[in-house]
Amino acid sequence: MQRKGIILAGGSGTRLWPITMGVSKQLLPIYDKPMVYYPLSVLMLAGIREIAVITTPEDQAQFQRLLGDGGQWGVRLIWLVQPSPDGLAQAYLLAKDFLNGAPSAMVLGDNIFFGHGLPEILASASARETGGTVFGYRVADPERYGVVDFDRDGTVKAIIEKPEVPPSNFAVTGLYFLDGRAPELAARVKPSPRGELEIVDLLEFYRAEGALQVEKMGRGFAWLDTGTHGSLLDAGNFVRTLTERQGQQVGCPDEIAYRLAWISRDELAARAEIFRKNDYGRYLAAVLAE
Ligand code: DAU
Repeated sequence: MQRKGIILAGGSGTRLWPITMGVSKQLLPIYDKPMVYYPLSVLMLAGIREIAVITTPEDQAQFQRLLGDGGQWGVRLIWLVQPSPDGLAQAYLLAKDFLNGAPSAMVLGDNIFFGHGLPEILASASARETGGTVFGYRVADPERYGVVDFDRDGTVKAIIEKPEVPPSNFAVTGLYFLDGRAPELAARVKPSPRGELEIVDLLEFYRAEGALQVEKMGRGFAWLDTGTHGSLLDAGNFVRTLTERQGQQVGCPDEIAYRLAWISRDELAARAEIFRKNDYGRYLAAVLAE
């Protein structure tokens, strides 16, 4: 069965208040694009064309205004609502009918990935039909994330959410490839002491049966955080530095769709026309001229 995508873009964004009192966090700019473009690009790079976007009830209309039905990129977007932020694992319950037994790749709407070889690691995770794959990334402040506890021989013993004493420096990124059982297993997750259906508890079902791969994303990758005012600005500066230095876009769904032949030359030309007055449009025109 074809793998389907989920972008989880709800949540209250309280850590970025007052900015996110009026607008969803995942719509904030990361340099020249809205944040949600970056995780969307990751799913597209993984070859996924059917994607459910989960938002809060209040923010859905704004996301729809931005992304539409996905047809401009040759993808199909389905709209789902999470009434309250009851945890990441809840996404699989909300998306159960949409997934309809298919394996999935879920990405958090505020996670930004960049690196040479990203399409390859996405392809190999996507190719695994059973079990789950998550990515471990070395960070200086693991206590802020889900953290991998490895055995001496490197087997994963546990993934612990925001441990006071982190067992390793490997955080689990917000990108989860799970098989078709995810909704059914998510239904068995009980709310944690903080009242959320925790993603780590869902992953534990897979780990316990030896079906969870934790792939390390090496230092050649950037997994950027947008959780604080400073890291939000840093992520924007990082994208700006790369974009200006290389003259290549990071996280550009229009370019990805064209390179994957999901949209035609004419369709890309029409997109370039919409943005002709700015660098984004000029970039698309340059891609067309290659
Ligand atoms: O970014 C990776 C980390 O994401 C993982 O290492 C952790 O294991 C995982 O729990 C999560 O941790 P965070 O502390 O970043 O979770 P947060 O509550 O900030 O939510 C992450 C994103 O998901 C955020 O953009 C809001 C959205 N969200 C969150 C919850 C709890 C929802 O859309 N719905 C929700 O119910």
